[in-house]
Amino acid sequence: MAIFFNEETKMFYLEGKNISYIFGINFTGFPEHYYFGTRIGRDELAYTYEANIGDSAESAIPGQVHAGGKSYNVYRSEFSMYGNGEFRDCSFQMLFANGSRLNEFLYETHEILQEKPAIPGMPSMRGGQTLVLTLKDKNSEMRVRLFYTVYDDADVVCRHMEVENGTSEAVKLLRAYSFALDVYGAEHDLLTLENAWAREERPERTPLAHGTFCIDEKSASSTRRHAPAFALLDKDTTEHSGNALGVSLIYSSSFALKAQVSTKGYTRLTGGINDFDFAWVLGAGETFATPEVVLAYSDEGIGGMSRAYHDAYRKYLVNPRFASAPRPVVINSWEAVYFGCTPDRLLPIIDAVRGTGIDTFVLDDGWFGARRNDRAGLGDWVVSPEVFPEGLKPVIDYVHEAGMKFGIWFEPEMVNPDSDLYRAHPDWAIAVPGAEPCVSRRQLVLDITRADVRDYIVESVSKILRENEIDYVKWDFNRALTENFSCALPAEKQQEMHHRYALGLYDLCERLIGGFPHIFFEGCAGGGGRFDPAILYYFPQIWASDDTDAYMRTQIQHGTSIFFPLSAISCHTSICPNHQTNRTIPFKTRADIAHLGATGYELDTTKITPEEIEEVKTQVADYHEMEALVLDGDLYRLENTFDSNYFAMQLVSKDKKRAHITAMRALCRPNDEHKRIFPRGLDKNAVYEVVNEEYGLRLRLTGAAIMRVGLVLPLRTADNKMPGDFKTFVFKLTKVKG
Ligand code: DGJ
Repeated sequence: MAIFFNEETKMFYLEGKNISYIFGINFTGFPEHYYFGTRIGRDELAYTYEANIGDSAESAIPGQVHAGGKSYNVYRSEFSMYGNGEFRDCSFQMLFANGSRLNEFLYETHEILQEKPAIPGMPSMRGGQTLVLTLKDKNSEMRVRLFYTVYDDADVVCRHMEVENGTSEAVKLLRAYSFALDVYGAEHDLLTLENAWAREERPERTPLAHGTFCIDEKSASSTRRHAPAFALLDKDTTEHSGNALGVSLIYSSSFALKAQVSTKGYTRLTGGINDFDFAWVLGAGETFATPEVVLAYSDEGIGGMSRAYHDAYRKYLVNPRFASAPRPVVINSWEAVYFGCTPDRLLPIIDAVRGTGIDTFVLDDGWFGARRNDRAGLGDWVVSPEVFPEGLKPVIDYVHEAGMKFGIWFEPEMVNPDSDLYRAHPDWAIAVPGAEPCVSRRQLVLDITRADVRDYIVESVSKILRENEIDYVKWDFNRALTENFSCALPAEKQQEMHHRYALGLYDLCERLIGGFPHIFFEGCAGGGGRFDPAILYYFPQIWASDDTDAYMRTQIQHGTSIFFPLSAISCHTSICPNHQTNRTIPFKTRADIAHLGATGYELDTTKITPEEIEEVKTQVADYHEMEALVLDGDLYRLENTFDSNYFAMQLVSKDKKRAHITAMRALCRPNDEHKRIFPRGLDKNAVYEVVNEEYGLRLRLTGAAIMRVGLVLPLRTADNKMPGDFKTFVFKLTKVKG
């Protein structure tokens, strides 16, 4: 059992594996937050009120609440509404038909559910035990229900909210965030992830000052500028120690996440659907559900928080059929031939990797309609007779005969103005009538808030999937939304569009991914433009970046791994000089770094040497050896190239019997420092065999020695040459005693 309620004190205790989340109903009937952190007992925590006594207008002294001033500004809120003395950033704001925005939601009832209800139309975590707390507006029949889910074996609390209009008139929701949480203390740092094409998920650590710090997206695409996640850190929190409180939103459209330091010494965390240019008309009797947010806590620093997310997402978010299953090792056609994917160019690429262990060929963009470049054809999901005169079958048969599976690319949500689809249905593309739409990558976005548009997409994509033996789909999404407008919505509902886009996307995913359960779907958005937990719910792995340069990848994969397990991060070995950076990095390093995720290849395999093809065989075999750790292991980020000349990631099996470390020295310097890395998470009393095959190194050391004394990164190559730039060192650890 994970949720306890004390009838007498009205305190709720939500307990995870190592965490407690405690709140109670205060003397006004309002849910107040008391604690979220390392697991503690079920103490009565209302004694902390003393600290709250403020000036009379903001007092929280019992008895004074409605005599002379209301006190919501000093409450540690679980839910926060506008008005009633609340002057901080609230989590909820609505507009009644008479123009009033005032409401006061107080405790009505609660229930504890053993089965987690799904959120209508939206992906969410599964399992756990759920508390549903119902609050009712004092002056109307409006209700909000706050949902909390906790797990015996995870360190996360999932939250979302439902608003029910029990009045006889429509109301307008102006803001409906997923959660609010007032954390003790005004001295924190905030860790966020800044995004741009080809350099996604760059961590930034910002000291919070009084006022509100906000990250947001207005593009109906979750991760173009910021990942929909952040972490609140103590000043002394590091990668490996200290308090880290994570917030990660299961949502793929425009979002806002905020941290506000108040004058009373608390830091409010809140957010959800971006309320900028948002309003939702909630008719009488209707209910609105917000997306779910996953809060994680660890006292083992940022790394501990990451492991809490990795465990929770692998267990309760990713499709269980794929979560721990070996992933396809692909050869993708994009960087090999770009739009020139003719059979005469593809078949030799397939031939070259026969017998290497690469098990899936993916035909990327360019196979359909008039899509010979990015100017035409998007939306026309018919095999191009010009490129494949006999259809896809001969190529698919060729791939299957080579012992591989066949994958194919779609960008279901998009259309080129130069396409049969657009010519037939110009009104299906998002645009404001009378205004020229904003074109990006020469394409427009289809209005998937419309059922007829979604039906077309499902039917035309399904036809290809039904008529061909397809094992794998890459679902791309290459531009942001610029107009918040749908021709199918009445004027008063136009500001619902970006949320409706997310609902349309999830409906498409349910129907297409759910309709073809044997097919493995990978998510993609011009690289990592939509890398969020909602996408992970449908797509067990997501293309992290169009940047395949291994040095850049050490940074992108480091940042992405803060909230996502390595199994979610799709990574490819590509050709050099690299197409994004023009940098040359050794082939082995490229593969070693790509192996720290769902690995694959993306290059013209006819242009590499026979020796390199032989190397691919070894690389794929090496990957399979470490694959269980990538899928289910504990991740430790030991070094990163933002902070130093070195990179190191370590994976440890749950039973601590095996570990894998990939380290890299970025720039080679003559007479360089003697460099050690310090692994973590091992059994300190056990003896491990430490192997570095390249250097013929074989050591027997205790876990304690490995972690305290460290492992040495050689200064020269195995044949005693200077190693050059971007040299990786791989250590495999196996417990042999203890
Ligand atoms: C962007 C993706 O990130 C690439 O991998 C590739 O699929 C192209 N789109 C194709 O247009």
